Amino acid sequence: MNRVVVGAQWGDEGKAKITDLLAQNADLIIRYQGGCNAGHTVVAHNKTFKFHLIPSGILYGGKTCFIGAGTVILPEAFEREVTELIEQGIDVSGLKVSPLASITMPYHTEVDGYSEDNAKKGKIGTTKKGIGPTYTDKAARIGLKIEDLYSPEALNEKLDVILPLKNKTLEKVYGLQPYSKDCILALCEKYAQIFRPYVCFDWQEMLNNSKKKQVLFEGAQGVMLDVDYGTYPFVTSSNPIGGGACTGSGFGPKMIDEVIGVAKAYVTRVGEGPFVTELTDETGDKIREIGHEFGVTTGRPRRCGWFDAVTMKYSVLVGGLTSVALTKIDVFDTFDEIKICTAYKDTRDGKIYKSYPTNVFIHKYLEPVYETHKGWDVDITGIREYEKLPENCKKYLARLEELLEVPISIVSVGPDREQTIFKK
Ligand code: GDP
Ligand code: IMO
Ligand code: MG
Repeated sequence: MNRVVVGAQWGDEGKAKITDLLAQNADLIIRYQGGCNAGHTVVAHNKTFKFHLIPSGILYGGKTCFIGAGTVILPEAFEREVTELIEQGIDVSGLKVSPLASITMPYHTEVDGYSEDNAKKGKIGTTKKGIGPTYTDKAARIGLKIEDLYSPEALNEKLDVILPLKNKTLEKVYGLQPYSKDCILALCEKYAQIFRPYVCFDWQEMLNNSKKKQVLFEGAQGVMLDVDYGTYPFVTSSNPIGGGACTGSGFGPKMIDEVIGVAKAYVTRVGEGPFVTELTDETGDKIREIGHEFGVTTGRPRRCGWFDAVTMKYSVLVGGLTSVALTKIDVFDTFDEIKICTAYKDTRDGKIYKSYPTNVFIHKYLEPVYETHKGWDVDITGIREYEKLPENCKKYLARLEELLEVPISIVSVGPDREQTIFKK
C-alpha cells in the first residue's frame, strides 16, 4: 500500500505525527516538495523531535528516507538538521537526497527577507527561508541543482548565465550586494561536501526497486497553501497536494493507492492571507493556548479558528484525499460548544457559498455560517478505541464525515505516537 500524507488545511495539521506512525510499515519515505519552511514535530518515547527537511520516517533507523526532486534545500539547514539528529543518536544511514533537488542560495534567503521586511502592500508573511525565490529561479530555469555541485563544467556554464542576471537584480531592484563567481564557487564546494554522503545518483534504480515495496510520501505545508490551488497569492511556492507527490518524487500516479489528508479539528494559519473562520476573540486564544499553537519554524503565534468544512471539502477534491486523519480533537475536551462552518455568506448581498470561492479578494466580505455541536467534557487523551470516545465526540466526527464525504480513518487524541485511534 503506497500512501501520501497531505496537509489538508494551511499547514501544521500534525502531518509529521501521522507520517511517523505510517512510516513504521513503509520501506521508502519520500519528502516531495517544499523546503525548510516546514516544521514537523514527532513525539515518541517521551522525546520531541523537530524536522524541517528530513522525512519523519528517519526515526525508525535504517529506512530509506528520500528528499525528492520537487524540494528546495538550504544546505546549511540540511547540515544542521542532520548534525542534530546524529547528536541525538538517530541513525541517518538511510537518508538520501535527489541530485535534482534545487539549492537555496544565500541570495534567495536575502531576497525573501528583503521582500517581506520591505513590503508596503501584499506581504505574504513567509518563513524567510528563501522558498519563493528558489522556486522562482527553478521555474525561470536559472536555478542550481544538487547535481551541478559535482559537475564543474555545468556549474561554470550555469553561473556565467545566472550571476550577471542575479547581480543586476540584487543591486538594482533590492539594493543588495552582488556575488562574485569565486565566492559562489567556494560556497558550492562547501555544499558539495555537505551533500556528498547523501546524494543519491542511482535514484532511478532505487525507485525501480521500490515498485513492489511500501512507499510513503510525506507532504509539507497544506492544500490551502498550494501555489496552484491555495489562497493565492498567500501561499507557498510548491504543490503540497496529492498530485505533487508524483512530480516531486519521480513516481507516476499509478503508484499511489491512498491519499490521507491530515486536518485539525479546528483550523490554524501562520502568515498573512484570508481565513474566514478566524477567531480573534478569547475562543481563538483558548484554542491557541490549549493547542500550543506557535510555529515550529518561526515561533510565530498561529491564527486559530473553527473547522471550515467549505475549504476542507475543496481540499478533499483538489488534494485528491481518499480519507482524513483528524488531529487535535483533544483540544476541545473542555469546550462546551464546538462549531463547524458549513457555508460562507457574502455580507454584501447575502449570497451563500457552499463551494469554496477561489477569488480570495472577496473573502473579506464573507462570514461563516456555523452549526453548533455540544462538547463532551471528558479527557479523551487516554482513549485508544473509537467506540470508547464520548458520544458527542463521535457525533461530531460522524458529522464531519457526512460533510466531507470521505471517511475519517485516523483520530489523533494527543501529540504522542501512542495517542492515536485507527478507525475501522
Ligand atoms: P505538521 O507541520 O503538520 O507536521 O505539524 P506541526 O508539527 O507543525 O504542528 C502540530 C503540533 O501538534 C505538534 O506540536 C504536534 O506534536 C501536535 N499534535 C499532533 N497531533 C496532536 C493531537 O492529536 N493532539 C495534540 N494535543 N497535539 C497534537
Ligand atoms: P508545515 O509543513 C504552516 C506559510 C508561511 C506563509 C506562506 C509562504 O510545517 O505544515 P514560504 O516561506 O513557504 O514562502 O511562506 O506559507 N507556510 C507554512 N505555514 N506550516 C508550514 O509548513 C508552512 N510553510 C510555509 O507562513 O504564510
Ligand atoms: Mg508544521
